[in-house]
Amino acid sequence: MNQAEEFVVPDITVRKNAGLSHDTDYTMPQPLDRYTEADHATWATLYARQVALLPGRACDEYLEGIAALQVSPDRIPDFGELNQHLMAATGWQLVAVPGLIPGDIFFEHLANRRFPVTWWIREPDNLDYLPEPDIFHDLFGHVPLLMNPVFADYVQAYGKGGVKADSLGGLDMLARLYWFTVEFGLINTPKGLRIYGAGILSSSSESHYCLDSDSPNRLGFDLQRIMKTRYRYDSFQKTYFVIDSFEQLFKATEPDFAPLYAAIAPKPEIPAGAILPGDTVLHQGTGEGWPDTEDA
Ligand code: PHE
Ligand code: FE
Repeated sequence: MNQAEEFVVPDITVRKNAGLSHDTDYTMPQPLDRYTEADHATWATLYARQVALLPGRACDEYLEGIAALQVSPDRIPDFGELNQHLMAATGWQLVAVPGLIPGDIFFEHLANRRFPVTWWIREPDNLDYLPEPDIFHDLFGHVPLLMNPVFADYVQAYGKGGVKADSLGGLDMLARLYWFTVEFGLINTPKGLRIYGAGILSSSSESHYCLDSDSPNRLGFDLQRIMKTRYRYDSFQKTYFVIDSFEQLFKATEPDFAPLYAAIAPKPEIPAGAILPGDTVLHQGTGEGWPDTEDA
């Protein structure tokens, strides 16, 4: 969803935001009085469940970040309070938004070290799967790593890259990089594989699956390869890409992408579950349980 004209607001976003308004950059004051006791209870349930999974699964940088942010376990956090810690650590801040926002506006926020966070939380009858991000995904999943200086710089550079990619026809390729790193990335550490992707860290079932299951491929990070790789929207990933460090990620993505987009645009896309001759294969997936519908 990279063009403003393709932007369709999902039902739940419309319902949650009834009577509220946002600015032209889609930011709004966090409507703290809109949270019900049921909303806070949903936060507490999700928080307790995920936090229990993190030791031995989430990377140290994430664990350090969530501790230093002082995210509250039993109430939906007040962005103003989190921002004091975040600002002090890396100069980032959270801004409240109604839900998914147009790509160009999203990039502009990241480029200025503002992370858009959906203010509302999912409904209790839908704790596990939701088609669009809510506050639990955006905040619990994404924000702790923004406390890490290298990762914080990476996400800002990504935002600047997004502003630029628009005119270079690179948006699809750049979106895949976000998907396979910021959302579904794994990192190799001396203690073993760990999770840093927010899409995984906010999902109980995928937090188990991505590390423990034999089904998915786990491949070494490869920028050009990732930019041509299709992904899954509707199921666990068929392939996870593994970085060695955030420094590696930052360095690999630092060069100007303009010539890269031009060079790889004509190359064929790679199916979500494929393994290619040049891949660094940490684990070859069995493919068990993979959906056979079209990749995104
Ligand atoms: N170096 C990229 C460019 O020139 C910007 C970028 C940095 C993109 C980090 C993604 C991540 O477009
Ligand atoms: Fe996300």
